[in-house]
Amino acid sequence: MICSLHEALRTLTCCPVLSLLACNPTRQRLGAGSALLQWGVELADSLSLPTRLEASPSGYGAYKKFGYEDIDVVDLKVTETWGVTNSAGSNWGANNAISLAGRAPDGVMRTVIMRRPAKDASV
Ligand SMILES: CC(C)(COP(=O)(O)OP(=O)(O)OC[C@H]1O[C@@H](n2cnc3c(N)ncnc32)[C@H](O)[C@@H]1OP(=O)(O)O)[C@@H](O)C(=O)NCCC(=O)NCCS
Repeated sequence: MICSLHEALRTLTCCPVLSLLACNPTRQRLGAGSALLQWGVELADSLSLPTRLEASPSGYGAYKKFGYEDIDVVDLKVTETWGVTNSAGSNWGANNAISLAGRAPDGVMRTVIMRRPAKDASV
């Protein structure tokens, strides 16, 4: 019982959450997103805090590079719910977090819940 409570509190520890990160599409892949992420993870590390976020398909790769780990996936049944197909073949995140949840089926958009551990691993 004590172990469960301890685990729950550890899991629910208040920590910074990245709510939104976006660059103008004409200015992507120029390093702005990485610079902002660097600032955020350095701040978290200076406070020995873990951080969390929900990664869109296009943000997932960047977060992986900054040490974020897969926690869970949110598979949104876009085609079934709204009748929209990925006819343009854009990135719907099907290959993200495969080791955790397998490949997302066609017609599904996947976001990934991610956590970056605190620099001090005991937090
Ligand atoms: C995610 C995002 C903020 C990254 O910003 P950025 O300034 O383009 O990022 P950087 O130039 O620092 O690139 C860092 C990495 O991001 C990833 N990345 C950037 N743009 C990407 C795109 N359009 N598609 C897929 N990955 C992309 C790449 O892994 C890149 O590394 P690389 O050197 O291998 O290309 C930007 O792509 C964006 O605004 N996307 C749309 C909004 C969105 O989905 N935001 C995430 C919400 S969780």
